[in-house]
Amino acid sequence: MIQQTRPWRSVLYIPGSKERALEKARELPADAIIFDLEDAVAPDEKPAARELLAKVLAEDDYGGRAKIVRINGFDTEWGRDDAAAFATAKIDALLVPKVSSPADLDAVAAVAPNVDLWAMMETAAGMLNAAAIGAHPRLKGMVMGTNDLAKELGSRFRPDRLALQTGLGLCLLAAKANSLIIVDGVYNAFKDEEGLKAECEQGRDMGFDGKTLIHPAQLAVANEAFAPSQSEIELARRQIDAFHAAKAAGQGVAVVDGRIVENLHIVTAEATLARAAAIAAMAE
Ligand code: COA
Ligand code: MG
Repeated sequence: MIQQTRPWRSVLYIPGSKERALEKARELPADAIIFDLEDAVAPDEKPAARELLAKVLAEDDYGGRAKIVRINGFDTEWGRDDAAAFATAKIDALLVPKVSSPADLDAVAAVAPNVDLWAMMETAAGMLNAAAIGAHPRLKGMVMGTNDLAKELGSRFRPDRLALQTGLGLCLLAAKANSLIIVDGVYNAFKDEEGLKAECEQGRDMGFDGKTLIHPAQLAVANEAFAPSQSEIELARRQIDAFHAAKAAGQGVAVVDGRIVENLHIVTAEATLARAAAIAAMAE
């Protein structure tokens, strides 16, 4: 389990071409921002967006928010120049789209040797190769691209995301096996708060660290859903206290609220407290 030093509850996409949104994001309560050069930017705007983004990121006033740049694929005319343009920028990661095999990451790693890489997991081949992709030595995070995945599967939207579950599960396993951050896909209906809440809670319960978002109106819901609740924090504290007391009394396990507490539960409880502390630090 990763002891996170920063929260990833809300990861907001911003089209790299939208100056107003880029400016606005400096005030928004997002844990991380994905500055997009790929699908949110029209082909004839790509070079100008790259230039604008390089200028905006050089100013570096996004506070504690993590900064991730999503580049175009290396099978397009823009991908290599995108990677080169941000290879030494003050950012937290380059996000590589449509990663289908570790070779897709190798290609970007060669152009940008000193920046963390994250992978968009959004192709059928990517799902099948998730284990090998997740083990790539330069990879630090995964982002589910559920719209592209649904498109390739030919599946329909359902609130339970039945058709996507296999892919989501494979990527979660690959991320956890390699101690990577993993962030869930977007919820397209950005005015449907109830639907977003349900999907955030589903992703949280599965083990995602947070959700990618497309609109500022989605931030509060994701921030709440992916934060430990007050009662979870209190339970974690009580479990840790009870376990230490049991240990001091020569016992290996404790009982809290009628449930057994073993060493492995303490690892989870400590991770909960670490997440709460990271969120509190973000708010300062
Ligand atoms: N990040 C930061 N600010 C954003 C934003 C975003 N993703 N989306 C909208 N805003 C800002 C707008 O600039 C506007 O600011 P203002 O009123 O202060 O000028 C405010 O939020 C309200 O925007 P609104 O009018 O409700 O949205 P819209 O109709 O202009 O745009 C979308 C709707 C979905 C097109 C837009 O939110 C968007 O482009 N989202 C990102 C899409 C994306 O990146 N997709 C790729 C990954 S799936
Ligand atoms: Mg995509």
